[in-house]
Amino acid sequence: MLDLPHNGQANEYGMPGYGAATYGDAFADVYDEWYESLDDADFVRFITTHLNTHFAQHTASVLELGVGTGRLLAQLISARKLHDICVGVDSSAAMLAALAARNLPSRVSTICCDMSRDLPAGPFDLVFIGYNTIFNLPSEQALGACLSLVASRLQPDGYFMIDAVIPNDDGGDNVSVRSVTSDRVVLSVSTHARESQHISGQFIEFSQSEGVRLRPWVVTYWTPSQLDTIARAAGLDLVDRYATGDGEPFTPESARHISRYRTSR
Ligand SMILES: C[S@@+](CC[C@H](N)C(=O)[O-])C[C@H]1O[C@@H](n2cnc3c(N)ncnc32)[C@H](O)[C@@H]1O
Repeated sequence: MLDLPHNGQANEYGMPGYGAATYGDAFADVYDEWYESLDDADFVRFITTHLNTHFAQHTASVLELGVGTGRLLAQLISARKLHDICVGVDSSAAMLAALAARNLPSRVSTICCDMSRDLPAGPFDLVFIGYNTIFNLPSEQALGACLSLVASRLQPDGYFMIDAVIPNDDGGDNVSVRSVTSDRVVLSVSTHARESQHISGQFIEFSQSEGVRLRPWVVTYWTPSQLDTIARAAGLDLVDRYATGDGEPFTPESARHISRYRTSR
């Protein structure tokens, strides 16, 4: 088991009792139902195009950080014709149990660990982190530690890729409705701490049969330039940045960025 803080004390997430496994453990049972049809298939196309360009004739070794239920990894495996060696890490055993149920090929392995504390040795040709998962790290220190590990696990000519939204710090506290059915209501409640760049929330599910269920989440957001500065200090230099995985140019108005880094070794 991981040694994660669940002791009710304040911590770097800014939510007492929250730890690296909390998000995954709280969402594993609904993750695929709620998020399977997210609009980020272009990130998988971006990774696939990169691999097909650099590894047209031979297999690559690939690591996904915060692999979750394997939603993105499954798409990548079916898009690539070559049998790449794939490793997924996640801090939540519940998420990795959901991934195991997908019956991915045996060349896919998973490791339960906190990506800011440890990563498999590799070396990897490509490391990627999708769908804002980089914002699951709670602090600059944790982000820097994770990126240093990535830099040390990449092949000298390997790449690191991030898909993340451009944070908009205008938002305040928020309550909204996620879904209403005849026997279930899901509300979304969140609060924004601008100074620490944390947004914390709960999905609150009320149902006739199961009562109340809380699903907590915390993100610590970073602008692209903050990410680049922390990455540079960790030994990763930005190579290029796009607004979408299909190569649309990144502009100051872009809502999202797909960024590619290489080690500065
Ligand atoms: C938003 S989900 C993304 C899952 C998957 N990559 C996808 O796009 O569907 C974030 C994942 O990161 C995992 N995670 C959060 N903090 C982590 C950490 N410190 N180390 C490793 N995994 C972490 C969570 O358990 C969760 O599975």
